[in-house]
Amino acid sequence: MTETPAPAAVLADFDAYAQAVETVAAAARAYYGGADSSVDDDTYDRLLRGIGVYESEHPDQMLAESPVGKVAAGALPTGDVPHTVPMLSIDNVFDPEGLVAWVASLERRIKRAPAALTVEPKMDGLAVAVRYRDGRLDRLVTRGDGIAGEDVSHAIGTIEGLPERLPEPVSIEIRGEVLLTTEQFEAANEIRREYGATVFSNPRSGAAGTLRAKDRPYVVPMTFYGYVALPFPDDDSPFAEELRTADHSAVMARVEEFGVLTTGRTAARLRVCATVEEVQAAVDEIAALRAELPFGIDGIVIKADAAADQRDAGNGSRAPRWAIAYKLAAVHKITKLIGVDWAVGRTGVIAPRAILDPIEIDGSLVGFATLHNPADIERRGLMIGDQVSVYKAGDIIPRVEAPLVHVRTGAETPIEFPTACPQCGGELDTTQQRWRCAQGRACGLQAGILYAVGRDQLDIEGIGGRIVTQLIDTGAVADVADLFTLTRDRLLTLDRMGDKVADKLIAGIAQAATQPLSRVLCALGVRLTGRSMSRRIARHFGTMDAIRAADVEQMARVEGIGPGKATVIVAELAELADVIDKLVAAGVNMTEPGVTPGAADEPAEAGAGSGTEPGPLTGKSVVVTGAMTGALAALSRNEMNELIERAGGTASSSVSKKTSLVVAGDKAGSKRAKAETLGIPLLTPEEFADLVGTLLPA
Ligand code: IVH
Repeated sequence: MTETPAPAAVLADFDAYAQAVETVAAAARAYYGGADSSVDDDTYDRLLRGIGVYESEHPDQMLAESPVGKVAAGALPTGDVPHTVPMLSIDNVFDPEGLVAWVASLERRIKRAPAALTVEPKMDGLAVAVRYRDGRLDRLVTRGDGIAGEDVSHAIGTIEGLPERLPEPVSIEIRGEVLLTTEQFEAANEIRREYGATVFSNPRSGAAGTLRAKDRPYVVPMTFYGYVALPFPDDDSPFAEELRTADHSAVMARVEEFGVLTTGRTAARLRVCATVEEVQAAVDEIAALRAELPFGIDGIVIKADAAADQRDAGNGSRAPRWAIAYKLAAVHKITKLIGVDWAVGRTGVIAPRAILDPIEIDGSLVGFATLHNPADIERRGLMIGDQVSVYKAGDIIPRVEAPLVHVRTGAETPIEFPTACPQCGGELDTTQQRWRCAQGRACGLQAGILYAVGRDQLDIEGIGGRIVTQLIDTGAVADVADLFTLTRDRLLTLDRMGDKVADKLIAGIAQAATQPLSRVLCALGVRLTGRSMSRRIARHFGTMDAIRAADVEQMARVEGIGPGKATVIVAELAELADVIDKLVAAGVNMTEPGVTPGAADEPAEAGAGSGTEPGPLTGKSVVVTGAMTGALAALSRNEMNELIERAGGTASSSVSKKTSLVVAGDKAGSKRAKAETLGIPLLTPEEFADLVGTLLPA
């Protein structure tokens, strides 16, 4: 479940070794200097480990500038503020075996089992020592080379989580990470665009650049999260003594009481564990939370909790022996933007998509990423041939964050925007952020019909791209409703159409006319409504007549639809009025089974649609994850969601405290882990099938 990063790079000879040393040194300089590195974290780690392996096999060939064994790979500019106690780096493990080996080495060193081990996220920002003297925030110092750092006190007042006064007049140095939360990162790029500055390609380099910047015309707020606290060496007050002898977990609780931010208020708060098994479970838990934390993490830190254990373990020259980082695979990767294609969607919207040199991120191969809209491309200043940082985590659709402007070669070319609809060659409507073919949905007809006949909509088997093209080209079909008036004879006029296939299609179309309203609505391709929203609308109103009669205010009462979305949906339904009339005339079903018509007018109940009759899952929020088996094996995820809603529940795609139960099939991953963490009941597909029993599709 916790992903293992790729193994050490194999360096075949001295040249390869020397090259790797140079690459890592350049990347480390960029990384610690706040610039964008041209290698991603995984590549960096692989090279660094490859260098270590090569040096242990060829100790005679070791280069003096080798980054191995140096704080910050030897890349940091030395500041002029000495640290009270060196600010060390941290060693890494990469898998469960590495963790077990580290705990064993700790036990050998201290000659006993550690009293307890703590597990906490490794924030991906910049290490900073924060000095409070007599309760006042006095100074901020970067890590520098670990012995001395730069004074960055000018940033005081722009960093959340660091009160200028503590509630008690104590002296304490709190070390932690200054970073940009995901929200701060987005806001920072927003303001940089306004000022015509290049956008930050990722939160880490944004924080590095911001912490050092002194005379910007705008403020970029950052956040501090503390992870260690120590007294000043000359302080012999009782408070200092308390800090020297208390457990790490207790010290961090104290820091939190002072109003200094720690991870204590996030889901990834520090865990105290007794055994290595517990530590591994806590590592997996925090790893599973990664995608939804408000900040980026690149690993998980495990520490000996007891002060005595830390003292007895001691420190190496580069890293302490009482702490270890369990590294996680990078979710940011750097790859090349090969091109941009412009696809016309079902509703005529033109969506730019980045074509990437394929790269593995977070366990899957990514070859495409969304680019939102033309304005977005312009703001980011992207060019074809750029090295770009790409982000993907969990279920999130991969997206291109920004180009690495400083590694441009001059061979990059501008991205060409279409001047005509890429599908029909007709005019474009560029008045909105999202460009659309001036013909609107008529241009997306081919895609629209294919979507409408799809398995999760009308489910008409045997209609593929070739048939749809012919139906459109011959004028047989100009919208979804025309499918329902197709005759056998008409079908037989198509190329390569035989009696059998025509019969099958006619039967399929007749069957489709009996689909529930939610699927018919979905087949219409109303903008902003996909499968689950179509079900919500259908269950809320019960009949097509009620849906069409709804004004914006009534539409906005459907769960998950705000006034903005409601306006678009109501307008779309008006645009589709003719098609809906034709569907009604063709005898297509316009009611949702299991819903009492008119119930939407009454006060809404909790849980599913307001007019829904109760079922075994009434009021329950259900998440399905992994591969279904047994009676559920043949169901698509959409069909599973339909089943949940027929049983009165609400289907959701992410696990939270509000989730009532999780159906976990084969190969269920992070969602299952998260459910376990939150103590949410888990059912196997078989148990779930028993629960919903009679509601299963025939
Ligand atoms: S403890 C003396 N805990 O990771 C070593 N470090 O690459 C104590 N980091 O220098 C470090 N989150 O900048 C510790 N929860 C955490 C951390 C953390 C991020 C950083 C820190 C450290 C670097 C090592």
